[in-house]
Amino acid sequence: MQGTTGQGRLRLGVNIDHVATVRNARGSAYPDPVRAAKLAEEAGADGITAHLREDRRHISDSDIERLMEALTLPLNFEMAATAEMQAIALRHRPHAVCIVPERREERTTEGGLEVAREENRLAHFIAPLRDAGCRVSIFIAADRRQIEAAHRIGAPVIELHTGAYCDAHAEGRTRERDAELERLREMAAFAHDLGLEVHAGHGLTYDTVGPIAAFPQVMELNIGHFLVGEAIFQGLGPAIAEMRRLMDAARA
Ligand code: PXP
Repeated sequence: MQGTTGQGRLRLGVNIDHVATVRNARGSAYPDPVRAAKLAEEAGADGITAHLREDRRHISDSDIERLMEALTLPLNFEMAATAEMQAIALRHRPHAVCIVPERREERTTEGGLEVAREENRLAHFIAPLRDAGCRVSIFIAADRRQIEAAHRIGAPVIELHTGAYCDAHAEGRTRERDAELERLREMAAFAHDLGLEVHAGHGLTYDTVGPIAAFPQVMELNIGHFLVGEAIFQGLGPAIAEMRRLMDAARA
């Protein structure tokens, strides 16, 4: 099992999926997500996040193997709640496992997991992962019912889906953006009061990260697509350093 780093301050998990997306667009060996992970480490990331999707559209099985060998940072392994993924996680025992919903036809993880509807199955699903020493987190919408269900199934961590807030911001729907932000704020506090560790992520950019980073209950942000996009213009290291700076400024 891997160790934890960055305790006490807001952690930044850098999601490297879309380095693999660019690689896979040409079926080449580059750009290499493991190289990106090492660079992220040097640039101040506290962890690396990678989603092994059922269709392997970006991260591959061998990427996970190589990440486990190469990383000194903790790996947050995102996966759907399937038997295949559970077996892979149990083989590698990454520091963290984040359970996400997955639909083949979606472009990205569009919503949070429906924990409330699948409580019994998910409770049994996460138990062996917890027993193996992985810190299990559940990716959910900022919804009281889902948070309560995540707590009941014994997950120590939830990750709140910030996609609706970020989309509303990008589309100039300011009233909805503010309402989403308020919902995230209330639900971060609610989850924290239940004893859950609170993470957040999805769609975060330089423009949207501040208000989320300012929530005192949030311990970790997982950010990928924007950083990989910014890497084209300013390089991955500087993009991560700027995100880190904005997170620290918001927190202060
Ligand atoms: N957190 C989770 C659980 C995710 O599924 C994703 C996307 O893979 C992210 C964070 C990162 O989202 P983005 O790539 O939009 O920053």
